[in-house]
Amino acid sequence: MSTLQKYAHRDALAKAAAESAIEILGKTIEESGSAIWVLAGGSTPLAAYQIIAASHANDIDWSKVTFILGDERIGPLDGEFNNWKSIDAILANIPARKFRPDTDQTAEEAAFEYERVFALLPKLGNGLPRLDLVWLGIGSDGHTLSLFPGHMSMGPSSALVIPVHESPKPPSDRISLSLRALQGARNATILASGSDKRDAIHGAQVGNNSPIAIAVSIIETHDGAVTWMLDSDAATD
Ligand code: 6PG
Repeated sequence: MSTLQKYAHRDALAKAAAESAIEILGKTIEESGSAIWVLAGGSTPLAAYQIIAASHANDIDWSKVTFILGDERIGPLDGEFNNWKSIDAILANIPARKFRPDTDQTAEEAAFEYERVFALLPKLGNGLPRLDLVWLGIGSDGHTLSLFPGHMSMGPSSALVIPVHESPKPPSDRISLSLRALQGARNATILASGSDKRDAIHGAQVGNNSPIAIAVSIIETHDGAVTWMLDSDAATD
């Protein structure tokens, strides 16, 4: 099941995304006793994290929530490319359990280590980690996570976390949640702001073979609920 929600501007989108995350996590805690949230880098999610830190710090029992990152760039935590540093700086006061990928090693080593973290999460009937909420960004080329179009990151893999090299978008070396892991997504929210995303969004919605389109297809095929949250610049009509 896929739904589309449009907002007049990016701030409204960020506010709605924050509220939606709180609702999904709260409901999941009620039903399952804990909730797993796969966080995304990129500027649109960061605006929503700010709102969560400022306005939703007391809305749910954060001690029952796990934060885990969907993809990360290889390099030191204090390096210019690190996503976690920016996210954690905003969410520092939120007392969730936080799993940071150690990217101060090769992509292979980092992926292997982060795979073991994902393997600790509660499992679904299909044996895959239960990912209650997955936030996904989208690039103008249709990439999501660090899965790029026409790139080896879209190849088949039995791993939950894959090493990525020669990324078309710098930096070259990364780790990413795999397409296989997305089979465990119960809810996914795609956050997109800006007119440069319009073609990629339209392409995915008419069923092209971009990474975001394939990610959505996999999640929906495995009964996950997908919500597109777009600002008016990113929406096609
Ligand atoms: C990366 C970025 C990237 C980002 C999208 C959307 O690792 O290169 O995190 O994947 O999520 O490009 O970014 P915006 O939210 O800034 O549009």
